[in-house]
Amino acid sequence: MIIELENIYKSYQNNTSSSQNKVLDNISLKINSGDSIAIVGPSGCGKSTLLNILGTLDKATSGVIKIDNDDISKFNDKKLAEIRNQKIGFVFQLHHLLPQLNLLENVLLPTLILKDSKHKEAAKIRAFELLKSIGLEYKIKQYPGQLSGGECQRTAVVRALINQPEIILADEPTGSLDQESAEQIGELLSNINKEQNVALVLVTHSLELANKMKVIYKFNNGKLIK
Ligand SMILES: Nc1ncnc2c1ncn2[C@@H]1O[C@H](COP(=O)(O)OP(=O)(O)O)[C@@H](O)[C@H]1O
Ligand SMILES: [Mg+2]
Repeated sequence: MIIELENIYKSYQNNTSSSQNKVLDNISLKINSGDSIAIVGPSGCGKSTLLNILGTLDKATSGVIKIDNDDISKFNDKKLAEIRNQKIGFVFQLHHLLPQLNLLENVLLPTLILKDSKHKEAAKIRAFELLKSIGLEYKIKQYPGQLSGGECQRTAVVRALINQPEIILADEPTGSLDQESAEQIGELLSNINKEQNVALVLVTHSLELANKMKVIYKFNNGKLIK
């Protein structure tokens, strides 16, 4: 098991009234190595909230979250950031590459905390190999502004892999791409899941992409339904 949610609730305070907006209503979910899960549902139903809680980017109102069997409530923010960096890869709707860094430097970003020069060298080789695996080895010195949306998103996907995470969390990863690029990203994510046994949880509006996953959950009134 990689991540386990037990009885997770999440509410937001409504601005206009004193009432609570209950977004996640007693969600329990286990994610194991190699799992592939799609989460679908209308805008505003809580998909990103759930993914952010899974990735420890946001905190639940109540409930227990375990990563590799450790209850994460015992970790401070620094330790949590370290776990996130080592075990979880994130992909968002927008690629979030830094415009002032070239592709190679962007892929290396999550490794910047490495101190030892031997590890740094190995990371550089791995970054090159990852860019090569998506056919961008001739563009490693180019900047995001010089590339297509699809190329940038493919780079964002391999950046999520640089630290060899156990799980990738992808929030509408094809949401801002044309059909062909969306298909490429879908293939890439699905191949990573199958070939490298990296668990994949993705939120999508694309039924085609969702159907590539082993399990599809639909959000309904704060609950996940298979
Ligand atoms: N930081 C926040 N403060 C208050 N309400 C929020 C916040 N983030 C999300 N929400 C609300 O929670 C609900 C779920 O949002 P979200 O998880 O982003 O939905 P989805 O990703 O499915 O579109 C929405 O009603 C949204 O307005
Ligand atoms: Mg969302």
